[in-house]
Amino acid sequence: MAQSNSPARIAFVTGAAQGLGESIALRLADDGLDVAINDIPSKVEQLKAVATQIEGKGRRALVLTGDVTREEDVRDNVVQVVGQLGGLDVMIANAGIGIHKSFLQTTTEEWDRIMAINLRGVMLCYRYAALQMIKQGRGGRIIGASSQAGKKGTTNLSAYCATKFAVRGLTQSLALELAEHNITVNAYAPGFILTSLAYHPNDAVNGLRPGGTIKQLFGLPLDSPEAQPEVISSMVSYLAKPESYFITGQTILVNGGTLFD
Ligand SMILES: NC(=O)c1ccc[n+]([C@@H]2O[C@H](COP(=O)([O-])OP(=O)(O)OC[C@H]3O[C@@H](n4cnc5c(N)ncnc54)[C@H](O)[C@@H]3O)[C@@H](O)[C@H]2O)c1
Repeated sequence: MAQSNSPARIAFVTGAAQGLGESIALRLADDGLDVAINDIPSKVEQLKAVATQIEGKGRRALVLTGDVTREEDVRDNVVQVVGQLGGLDVMIANAGIGIHKSFLQTTTEEWDRIMAINLRGVMLCYRYAALQMIKQGRGGRIIGASSQAGKKGTTNLSAYCATKFAVRGLTQSLALELAEHNITVNAYAPGFILTSLAYHPNDAVNGLRPGGTIKQLFGLPLDSPEAQPEVISSMVSYLAKPESYFITGQTILVNGGTLFD
């Protein structure tokens, strides 16, 4: 639903071929934004399907492939968004991976990889979005993916937790630095959301419902709260709106009440 006669605001969502990124991209299109979507090159067909849905909502879509760990990819993606859609108003640094292993089982290579995607990737998205939004001089919304695991340590998730705690710190610091430019910086902290990140091949092997194995690895009861991606995209939708201007530096839990802060 477009909100006025003014030009559509423009969003860029990373990791948008599936899961939370896809849900956020579609919700922002419902909100009247034009949406650029990124994911790794092997997911280009999924990205095209998401773009078709965005266009079906009457918005413009732009498919971009790129690896968020590579500075040139993030910089070039932002250049494409600005060149082809006309600017950047909302950056969603969503791309991320999980590693479900104990601390002692996690190799240094696995540590470096998750740090590169979940933290360096978010940092690069924040940087190139901030540079563009400052240049435009019309404020903006920068939103990153943290997690409930960015607020409380979890078994078999130490490397992931470290990245998501770090996103929270980065989000707070950048919010302070960008306030003078009317750019807010926030993060979402989902609890257990049913995307591929929550699934495990052993779910079927052990006769568990999807998500059951990961819950066991985290020490959660099998019937602990879980939800679909829309609970996140609806909250992100609000954070992306102009009216959310008084919220900044926050990492907001959406978790069915499994942790209070
Ligand atoms: N699902 C949950 O319960 C949950 C909970 C807390 C936080 N999160 C966070 O939400 C975000 C989205 O997760 P999801 O559940 O949708 O997972 P998902 O695996 O379904 O989607 C993540 C997407 O990111 C993409 N991606 C991975 N590495 C990339 C890279 N280097 N460059 C570009 N894209 C890349 C993947 O290809 C994938 O399409 C992640 O940051 C995740 O940590 C998810």
